[in-house]
Amino acid sequence: MTKRIGILTGGGDCPGLNPAIRGCVYMAEKMGCECIGFNDGWKGIIENKTVPLNREITREIIMQGGTMLGTSRTNPYKKEGGVEAVKETFRKNSLDALVAMGGEDTLGVAHRLYKDFKFPVVGVPKTMDNDLSGTDSTFGFDSAATVSVDALQRLRDTARSHHRIIVLEVMGRHAGWVALYTAIAGAADYVCLPERKVDGDDLTKKLKEAYASKRYALVVSSEAVELPTLDGGKTQDLDDFGHVILKGRGVGETLAKIIEEKTGIETRHAVIGHIQRGGAPTLFDRMLGVRVGAAAAQFVNEGKFGVMAALNGDKVVPVPLETAVGQLKTVTPEWLKFADIML
Ligand code: F6P
Repeated sequence: MTKRIGILTGGGDCPGLNPAIRGCVYMAEKMGCECIGFNDGWKGIIENKTVPLNREITREIIMQGGTMLGTSRTNPYKKEGGVEAVKETFRKNSLDALVAMGGEDTLGVAHRLYKDFKFPVVGVPKTMDNDLSGTDSTFGFDSAATVSVDALQRLRDTARSHHRIIVLEVMGRHAGWVALYTAIAGAADYVCLPERKVDGDDLTKKLKEAYASKRYALVVSSEAVELPTLDGGKTQDLDDFGHVILKGRGVGETLAKIIEEKTGIETRHAVIGHIQRGGAPTLFDRMLGVRVGAAAAQFVNEGKFGVMAALNGDKVVPVPLETAVGQLKTVTPEWLKFADIML
């Protein structure tokens, strides 16, 4: 009998989701399965909002950013009757499996459903933060970091012309990978990461040195860095998964003020924010997206559930969802040392 696969995309969007949907649909059809999509992550399955999916519909989405299915940060375990509604929609649509594409939160729900009910779910890892364990890389990261390297290059022109310091604040909720790669690949003078306490004296010394040699300097900072004048998110709003909503923290602005005070050099800041999450996926993210999407359909066909399609070297392999959601992959001490040499 033809297997029916539901697909949803949850959490923050990022380039690579559309390629992953396409990869899953193409492989599923090749194996004689059918796919349907759900709108806006777990919200769509709670509310039974479906979207038709087939080869024709998904043919050209490989080059598009965002997700054609829409997304949300809905957690069915936090909604009254949410989990029952997920199971009911699954049954109503005569589904055999669900492919959940997302980061720690979306895959966390998938893992819980598998653990609680042996729900037939396969995960597809996505996040521009690149902080999921169990996979070498997630799609979205390469595109996001490519955009922020470009932004840093643009800031270099204006910083050089005005003889200023400029701070670029980039996204990355718990992990500093985007900031780290942007700083190294974009030849910044300093990087501030959530994994390392900002050392004000070191920051001042390095920026003064950089400024003395070229009369401008560039700093990359992750949005999640702790600074003495910020409240650590204690008074801020939380999302459905209990994460502090970081958009109002103003790390870049605060850091620029601190730097100007400490160095006496005119300092500006720029926040790239959601610009990083839009635009066409890079070649890397297109290829990773279609591969992990296709592998998810294969795992469904082989009856491998409770796993995600992870990149391991040059292969895509099934890894238990538990591994993915157990612990976040943050910047390691080795990488911090490497950054210190490269900056
Ligand atoms: O997790 C991905 C991410 O882009 C983080 O880097 C960022 O803190 C968060 O999402 C922003 O979420 P939202 O799109 O809900 O503002």
